[in-house]
Amino acid sequence: MNFKKELAAILYGLLNQEIPEAQLELLIEKPKFPEHGDLAFPCFTLAKLKRKSPQAIAQELSVQIQSLSFEKVEVVGGYINVFLNKKLVSEKLLNKVIAEVGQFADQDFGKGGTITIDMSSPNIAKPFSMGHLRSTVIGNSLALITEKCGFKPIKINHLGDWGTQFGKLITAYKRWGDAEKVRQNPIKELLALYIKFHEEAERDSSLEAQGRSWFKKLEDGNEEANSLWQWFREESLKEFSRIYQLMNVEFDSFAGEAFYNDKMDRIVHLLEEGQLLVESDQAMVVDLKQEQLPPCLIKKSDGATLYATRDLAAALYRKENYDFAQSLYVVGHEQSLHFKQLIAVLGKMGYDWAEKMVHVPFGMMLKDGKKMSTRKGKVVLLEEVLNESIAMARQNMEEKNPHLIHKDQVSKQVGVGAVIFHDLKNHRMNDIEFSLEEMLRFEGETGPYLQYTYARGRSILRKANYQAKVLPENGPNTWEKEWKTASLLMDFAPVIKRACENHDPSIVAKYIIDLAQAFNKYYAEVKILEENKNLEARLALIFSVTVVLKEGLRLLGIEAPEEM
Ligand code: ARG
Repeated sequence: MNFKKELAAILYGLLNQEIPEAQLELLIEKPKFPEHGDLAFPCFTLAKLKRKSPQAIAQELSVQIQSLSFEKVEVVGGYINVFLNKKLVSEKLLNKVIAEVGQFADQDFGKGGTITIDMSSPNIAKPFSMGHLRSTVIGNSLALITEKCGFKPIKINHLGDWGTQFGKLITAYKRWGDAEKVRQNPIKELLALYIKFHEEAERDSSLEAQGRSWFKKLEDGNEEANSLWQWFREESLKEFSRIYQLMNVEFDSFAGEAFYNDKMDRIVHLLEEGQLLVESDQAMVVDLKQEQLPPCLIKKSDGATLYATRDLAAALYRKENYDFAQSLYVVGHEQSLHFKQLIAVLGKMGYDWAEKMVHVPFGMMLKDGKKMSTRKGKVVLLEEVLNESIAMARQNMEEKNPHLIHKDQVSKQVGVGAVIFHDLKNHRMNDIEFSLEEMLRFEGETGPYLQYTYARGRSILRKANYQAKVLPENGPNTWEKEWKTASLLMDFAPVIKRACENHDPSIVAKYIIDLAQAFNKYYAEVKILEENKNLEARLALIFSVTVVLKEGLRLLGIEAPEEM
């Protein structure tokens, strides 16, 4: 079903194999306007080569292009415009969707290679931030997209569960903490303790020293310190799990920073062996002047290791444990420098696989144009945001479709889907303005709009009692009005491939919006169930559109309710 390839192969023959087929394929465009056909081949490059006018070359070639797949070949300016055979192509395409359903557009260029995806990675005892939400949503979608392309994704939650802040937290808890309160509301309570520590430390300078000493105890395996840390970690994880459950996200590994504690000596040793460690300001660093980067901090004067050291250990562990073909880090762009340093240090250590590590950065979530984050003790709890979105979706539903059954389930699917789609519809580097009203609208580029389009398609199929079955090829149906929508189905596989290669779910998001819009336009123009002529073709088209919408939404991590 790759007509670009087919056209390229024909041109390759016509041009006496002078220009590689792949190069010809790259030249072929998809015209902006339907009156220019489905494929366009610009002859300007050839014109230079052959010292003829582009028009003359287009003319000469166009009369020789022949294939059953093509209905018409025209020349406009220096372009050869090719119109696909609507009947043949539509029937083949829909039959493929009908036969493959959820497997339609599956690809195997990933060749089973493993991709580790470092995603979500919130910090223990701190609120789950908007940045962590973005990382979760983007990472989850990349896992689904890469899997569709034949890779084996491994989703890793690199929890922020180690560092000097835990010494401070233990100090604060021992002074002012209340076990019952922590159990009831772990993150709010632990955050309050952490904030109190910093307030009190301004007056009482001994606190910092106590914090350091408790962290030292923690690192040395002191039992009390360890059991408190363990408890904070578990309580925090319980809270995070509720968010993951709401969003339907699972992980293959929760190996966070603490997991690498016993793997740090080896890193330091390897760096020493490679003579890469130098002393600077009483700390051990890897110099990266050559790479034009600031030095990478490995070990502090008191022996404590750092975020970067743990990431070095994690990278090595992932390579040895998963033998990844690619290793992705879905982390906000404010950590770009950290990942550049990380990759540079591993390169210096002689690991050629460092090239397979990719930082997949993203922009910020804004509210009224400002960064949305933990504001002075006032926490924007993500769980509350999700629950509010679900409640609003429910309210909409009570107004629009009060008799719907499964209201709980559907409002969850719509409320959560709205938040996810709003995040994924723009290129990840763009900042996003957070607005529940906006993301829950039923019109425009929103999750509910897509889910609604899907549910509407399913409802037509139910009314018509449609059972998916293969269409007779060269049957009685006509495809003029259906063409815009049907031909879009062809793009699904290449769209997924591009999203995979660019680590960019928005390519899939934009595509399903285009498909839904084309379908809704068609639906408004054609009284689908009223005239019987062509009914089978129409239903096959609607069925195929619902299959692709559902699969497209799935690749973004969004569910498609059958009714809403
Ligand atoms: N916990 C970190 C933070 O919230 C993100 C960790 C990202 N992953 C990594 N391997 N460094 O900023």
